[in-house]
Amino acid sequence: MSENNILNSANIPVHIGFIMDGNGRWAKARNLIRTQGHDAGVSALEKIVSHCRDIGIRCVTFYAFSTENWSRPKQEVDHLMQMFSSYMDKLIKEINSGGLKTYKGSSVRFIGDMSAFNEDFRRKVKFIKEKTSENGEEFIVNIAVNYGGRAEIVHAVNEFISENPNKLITEKDISERLYTGLLADPDLIIRTAGESRLSNFLLWQASYSEIYVTPVCWPDFTPEELDKALENYGKRTRRFGGLTEPD
Ligand code: FPP
Repeated sequence: MSENNILNSANIPVHIGFIMDGNGRWAKARNLIRTQGHDAGVSALEKIVSHCRDIGIRCVTFYAFSTENWSRPKQEVDHLMQMFSSYMDKLIKEINSGGLKTYKGSSVRFIGDMSAFNEDFRRKVKFIKEKTSENGEEFIVNIAVNYGGRAEIVHAVNEFISENPNKLITEKDISERLYTGLLADPDLIIRTAGESRLSNFLLWQASYSEIYVTPVCWPDFTPEELDKALENYGKRTRRFGGLTEPD
């Protein structure tokens, strides 16, 4: 499918969530170590960000590190933490010298439970969020680190209770207190490397998301692979619990 067809499609998602799985398998298949798979995953992510912006997607959310990923071997966790931190350094350098490159014109937000990170890490997250918010909300890039869908809902509920001790909570109260805040729910969630599960990703927001699973491992997930997912999405009918045709 050509980019034009996608652009002309009325069925283009506003918000796409990505479960970037298969870095380890990708590395193993090449006799590389797992962390090299994660490194290759960063390049794949950057190409997908650029492509999404080019074809008019408004928001993308990448699942980079879950609340459960801390149980991985220390060496892998340390590598991922170092990767996030130096990646933020790279973004900060770009911001300080004229503006973002790959993420040009984007609002970039690291989302998740930041209390697990040190002061320096949190300072970088805050700086990037504040500086890139000046780009407006034309294109939003969320990178989920220490993110868990259940933890996010618990956080939202606790925040509400502490602000409103005697009130009953509504869906809207929860939605607006999620890490994704007032963003539109994802229309489409793409999971690479074949497994058909959400793995604690955007549990609240994914109520009516379409799910697309591809066997391709994340480092091999190219813009062409994304176009295939969009073509598939474009043919779906979303009913949100209603009927397609009235009786
Ligand atoms: C799952 O693959 C992937 C992760 C836990 C990490 C994903 C992170 C990235 C792609 C990098 C993002 C980086 C930045 C700087 C934004 P896996 O290791 O579980 O793969 P496997 O199931 O094949 O072992």
